[in-house]
Amino acid sequence: MNFGGNASFSLINGIQMTIRQAFAVPIMQLQAPNAGQLNQALTIKLLEWEKNESTRSSAPTAVPRRAVYESDFSLFRREDPDIQQLARFCLSAIGQMAKEINGYSDQEMQQLRIYDHSWYHVTRYGGYFGSHNHPMASWSGVYCVAPGSSLPPEQRGGILRFLEARTTAGMYLDPGNAYMASPYTFGDLDYPLEAGTIVLFPSFLQHEVTPFWGDGERITVAFNCWFRYADQAVDEPEIRMRQRSS
Ligand SMILES: [Fe+2]
Repeated sequence: MNFGGNASFSLINGIQMTIRQAFAVPIMQLQAPNAGQLNQALTIKLLEWEKNESTRSSAPTAVPRRAVYESDFSLFRREDPDIQQLARFCLSAIGQMAKEINGYSDQEMQQLRIYDHSWYHVTRYGGYFGSHNHPMASWSGVYCVAPGSSLPPEQRGGILRFLEARTTAGMYLDPGNAYMASPYTFGDLDYPLEAGTIVLFPSFLQHEVTPFWGDGERITVAFNCWFRYADQAVDEPEIRMRQRSS
């Protein structure tokens, strides 16, 4: 049997044993280079858009939350140079990640198109966002515009937390499994976000944002992506806003 490139071998009593790293979930993190100016501009803009009735727009979702403003899901379609710069960065990161992880060639990548829903959150003191995942997408990402506080992450909260995907992995703990070394450890994973941090993850992965205890505004941009071939019909999971009569 071919276990791929992630098997390790050890000898037990002279007999070779194979250990396979099964059920792996890729989570990528990178830091946007020289993003200070962009984040400053985005902070001013997104807070202004949140305040202004003509640019404030939210779609209904069922995820429990508190003290979080969530925009509608068309952020990257706004014709704004700062948003377009951020969109290029986020979507090219998704593209590079997909290329790497699927082993696509440059020619194969040219046949692919990436579609997205994208939005922003403004979270204030005590705000949190409950556990959820993102159906109808293959990859999701979060970009941190502003962490909202100079406190260290363990004090400010607002941490992006991925929930253990192997839901029964911790059902029975004893000295035989409680101290397994990486990559076999289990439990939830915390990602404190700093300005310019981007985290990419499979959309099926349950995640949440822990309560935020900073004095300022924690601002993040999030996006869901789905891929199609260039000659394929685009079955976009479109979200239409209800037309309200005045
Ligand atoms: Fe999410």
